[in-house]
Amino acid sequence: MSAGVPTPEMILGEDEAIARVRGLVRKAAASPARCILIYGETGTGKGLVAQVIHALSQRSLAPFVDINCAAIPSELVESELFGHERGAFTGAAAKKVGLVEAADGGSLFLDEVRELSPVLQAKLLTLMDTQRFRRIGSVQPISVDVRFIAATNRILFNEVREGRFREDLYYRLQVIAINLPPLRERGHDVLYLARRFLDELCVRYGRPLMHLSPEVEAIFQRYSWPGNVRELQHLLERIVALEDG
Ligand SMILES: Nc1ncnc2c1ncn2[C@@H]1O[C@H](COP(=O)(O)OP(=O)(O)OP(=O)(O)O)[C@@H](O)[C@H]1O
Ligand SMILES: [Mg+2]
Repeated sequence: MSAGVPTPEMILGEDEAIARVRGLVRKAAASPARCILIYGETGTGKGLVAQVIHALSQRSLAPFVDINCAAIPSELVESELFGHERGAFTGAAAKKVGLVEAADGGSLFLDEVRELSPVLQAKLLTLMDTQRFRRIGSVQPISVDVRFIAATNRILFNEVREGRFREDLYYRLQVIAINLPPLRERGHDVLYLARRFLDELCVRYGRPLMHLSPEVEAIFQRYSWPGNVRELQHLLERIVALEDG
């Protein structure tokens, strides 16, 4: 929720599992690893963790580029990633630099990586192994220095077993894997995060500080939070914006 350069301290939580995540994030960021995988249900903080890893790394002055592989039609993902030469296909009126090239020296965040087509999974693996790729319509390889941070909200191994995700790419990504537990498994953190967000929101909305009643706290603690931290943030924002007292 806060702005500014992402730091591990922005990954809020007192639960042991989250302390472990902060430790892993520091180690992963400082390592020379070319690939990092972040796994967690929706709203558990995968995007936040990816940004913190980049900001903490020696790559922080180079770009952090993100692509949501599920949000772009699959036939466009390839040219988004790799770019193309002028005239490479119908509609390619001008040369286009892809996101891989744009992330040179920095980090490329591949959100919802399991959505990549089999062809693109193969190309990505080659790129990870060689740090080279070709723009669509070009024979000239281009060398880049990119760290890949991939995220998924599905257990990737299941996708491998069902033949939707390449096993070799899975093992490549799995070398450094960070698992974000769902909010309902973070014990007391539900209330800890709720209080922190509530304080922040009251300041932002210029409202007197609010407190959660013991009844509400009990409900929060029992609820399953399918939307995880994002759901908690949105709920509290609605309360701060609309409720009195
Ligand atoms: N531990 C945390 N402390 C503080 N804020 C958090 C924490 N985890 C997540 N958030 C915040 O919750 C919101 C959702 O997090 P984020 O977008 O990183 O989730 P995500 O796992 O990428 O979700 P999705 O799978 O839907 O893309 C963001 O505003 C993020 O800053
Ligand atoms: Mg996300």
